Amino acid sequence: MPVLRMGEHWLFFTMNYYQRSRAYYREICLSGVDDHDGVSDIIKCSGFSTYPEEEYSVIIETIRYFPHQFDVIYDMGCGSGLLLNYIENHIGYPLKLYGVDFVEESIMLANKSFPNYSFICKNVVDYKFPLNLPDKCLIMIDPYHYREDDFEKLILYYLQLDINIIIYTYSDVLSGLSYKTIFDFELFKKHKASFCIINNSINTAILTT
Ligand SMILES: C[S@@+](CC[C@H](N)C(=O)[O-])C[C@H]1O[C@@H](n2cnc3c(N)ncnc32)[C@H](O)[C@@H]1O
Repeated sequence: MPVLRMGEHWLFFTMNYYQRSRAYYREICLSGVDDHDGVSDIIKCSGFSTYPEEEYSVIIETIRYFPHQFDVIYDMGCGSGLLLNYIENHIGYPLKLYGVDFVEESIMLANKSFPNYSFICKNVVDYKFPLNLPDKCLIMIDPYHYREDDFEKLILYYLQLDINIIIYTYSDVLSGLSYKTIFDFELFKKHKASFCIINNSINTAILTT
C-alpha cells in the first residue's frame, strides 16, 4: 500500500471502507504521474507495472463467447480507461464505451486520453443506470473492490436490468486472498454462474439472466 503522509494517518483510520479504498487508489494514480521509468502514466494510474495484455486478451475472448454483439460496455472501476481502449481496438465492431471510477484524477486522465468514451466519477456502489439503457449492455466488474454484501446487491441489481455481466479479477488478487479461482468469492457460494472460463492468469465468470 502506498505510504500516506503523516498528517493523513488519523484521517485514514476514521474513514469507511470505500473512503479508504478511494484514498488508496488515488495515491496509486498520483504516484504514477511524476515518475519517468518508462512505464506510462496511463498504465500506472490503473495500478499496473506493465501493460496487462494477457489478461485483457482473455476478457476479449470472454466477450466473444456471448451469442450476440453488444451496443454498450461499461468497465466498473475503469481507472484510466485502458481496458476499454483495448476492447475498442480488438472487438471488431462499434460500441459505446463507459467507465465508472471513484478517483477523480483517474477520470481526468481517462477523459484526456480517450475523449470519445464516457467516464463517470462515482462509487460503483452508488451508480444507477439510465432508464433508456440499450438491450445489449455488458458490464465488467471485479468483486475484489466491494464489500461482500454490496457486491451481491450490485449483481442482483444488474441482473434485474437484464445487463450481462463479466466478473473478473487479476491473479495477484487471488493469490493475495489465498483464493484458487474467482469462485472462492462469497457470491459464487450462493449463486451459480451459468458459464465460466478458468485461465492461469485471469479468472472470469459470466452471469446472465
Ligand atoms: C486495478 S484498477 C483496474 C482498472 C481497469 N478496470 C483495468 O482493468 O484496466 C481498479 C480500479 O477500480 C477503482 N475502484 C475500486 N473500487 C471502486 C469503487 N467502489 N467505485 C469506483 N471505482 C472503484 C479504482 O479506483 C481503480 O482505478
